[in-house]
Amino acid sequence: MVNKCLSADCGLNEFLQSKKEVETSFDRLASQASKCGFGLKGVCCRLCAQGPCRISDRAPKGICGATADTVVARNFLRSVAGGAACYLHILENAANNLKGIASGKATLPLKGKERLAEVARVFGIVEEDSSRQAVQVAEMILADLYRPRAEKMRLVEAVAYRPRRERWQELNLLPGGAKAEVFDALVKTSTNLSSDPVDMLLHALRLGIVTGIYGLIFTNLLNDIMLGEPELRPAKVGFSVVDPDYINIVVSGHQQSLLSFLQEYLVSDEAFKLAREVGAKGFKIVGCTCVGQDLQLRAAHNEEVFAGHVGNNFTIEALLATGAIDLVVSEFNCTIPGIEPICDQLKIPQICLDDVAKKQNAQYLPFRLDGGLDLARKIAEAALESYRVRRGQVKVEVPDHGYEDVLTGLSEKSLKKFLGGTYQPLIELIAEGQIKGVAAVVGCSNLTVKGHDIFTVELAKELIKRDILVLSAGCTSGGLENCGLASPAAAKLAGEKLQAVCRKLGIPPVLNFGPCLSIGRLEMVAADLAQALRVDLPQLPLVLSAPQWLEEQALADGAFGLALGLPLHLAMPPFITGSPLVTKILTEEMKNLTGGQVIVEGEVIPAAEKLESIIVEKRAAIGLP
Ligand code: SF4
Ligand code: FE2
Repeated sequence: MVNKCLSADCGLNEFLQSKKEVETSFDRLASQASKCGFGLKGVCCRLCAQGPCRISDRAPKGICGATADTVVARNFLRSVAGGAACYLHILENAANNLKGIASGKATLPLKGKERLAEVARVFGIVEEDSSRQAVQVAEMILADLYRPRAEKMRLVEAVAYRPRRERWQELNLLPGGAKAEVFDALVKTSTNLSSDPVDMLLHALRLGIVTGIYGLIFTNLLNDIMLGEPELRPAKVGFSVVDPDYINIVVSGHQQSLLSFLQEYLVSDEAFKLAREVGAKGFKIVGCTCVGQDLQLRAAHNEEVFAGHVGNNFTIEALLATGAIDLVVSEFNCTIPGIEPICDQLKIPQICLDDVAKKQNAQYLPFRLDGGLDLARKIAEAALESYRVRRGQVKVEVPDHGYEDVLTGLSEKSLKKFLGGTYQPLIELIAEGQIKGVAAVVGCSNLTVKGHDIFTVELAKELIKRDILVLSAGCTSGGLENCGLASPAAAKLAGEKLQAVCRKLGIPPVLNFGPCLSIGRLEMVAADLAQALRVDLPQLPLVLSAPQWLEEQALADGAFGLALGLPLHLAMPPFITGSPLVTKILTEEMKNLTGGQVIVEGEVIPAAEKLESIIVEKRAAIGLP
């Protein structure tokens, strides 16, 4: 049903073209091509029964008197609050899991003892016993999540880069309790409450800080403690990771700690025996979306069970269409509803572990730490039964697709270790101009803008050509790695100087940090670089781009980027352009507040040129040639 190239990944395109019997998001794209102009500009309000009011030149106010600025700011803050809430949900579950494991509720190992000791030290925990340390770490995070809004979150003090924290304090941006900040954002934006766009944008920045430090950084740290820290290694990606001789369970979401029991059980003798009885070689977990990226990142700790990462949110429908997937396990977004009819069509059962991501036809088996092994057995049994019934009935066709040498396992720690225990070599390369600057190409994948991952991949190519090192986190990683840019051979696409650096170090010009949660790791890298150079984050030759941002979580990530004071490129604007004031604040005046700035540029080369010129300016400002 796909008639033209709609993805940067040609292999995915070709496969979709051969699967006309399956309808995917790519097929539905054309039917949604006509957009609502009011929605696009963010000026549709349906907060009360007199609406929806649509603000225009002809009707510049809603019936209640709300202006475009008020309506846009309300809509924007609500979306940021939604995104922040999603990340906080993930963090809350991770913290409860760590607390439960460390208190003996489950017999799961803590694989990252070194990380635990580091976090305990940063949090000022004096306890020596590692289990008690872990409980305290989890409790301190949970306490900040549940704190009232009038009380500032204590751990911001412990982890935020000092010059930033001071700026936040000056601007009154230090957040109160995380959930209370989200809650009050909803209150503030309800019918006939706040009409102050500036106050609402400042609230969005506060939610950005909550998202970044808690939802991103702390979730990574807790997962490192539970699941083991990332280690550098080559990884296989793409459809070819799927071996039809195994019982294949695809996972989708963002909460790897909910899969710990499953990972352990699927490689047990008991599971192996069951698989052999139905003629399979064993069980494999196949990664898709960010949880797949997280499994890939930690492949050093799960390689026996993890087949590899196939792709991002818009790859999963095609993956199911291969017929080689026996079960879908979802625990969070980005599990798109489009998979449901395909699952029905190909008789693939779905199991959901967290009701926030409940799919209509999925069996809901709530994750519980104290019943984790039973749950893992149930999941394995469902996959086994599906394999037994489906195989032979459903055509299995896995295309030859992907790469075998994607550099994975990148974290703020593993990168530093690779460089010899210090970022000094990277700083020297930047100072000498061998690396002109750093661009974090992060966030989502979407089918609009120019097509699936097309802007992301083309922008990354343009940036590396200009000797700008690209770091990725989120669904951009899936697109970039499936197009070969995260493999060492991609060095040949880089500018002469960056190419020489890549060849010397044996690294690709796009360093893939994995899931969107790793945007938090990128902040840690940036803070380390800034500290070494004795500058604040906005002074670094560092830019952000979330070219194909998609969801509310991306807006919360973006708010974090702005709070950090970084230039943030988007290929399409958020739904704000109906408000001259909100647009001006985000694209211009934010520079005077935090140092951050939204840059909207929908064409690849001008976007790369703008990002390059910002990097050049920032280099000059700190005295680099
Ligand atoms: Fe219209 Fe005001 Fe009601 Fe919104 S709150 S729908 S702008 S009357
Ligand atoms: Fe994600």
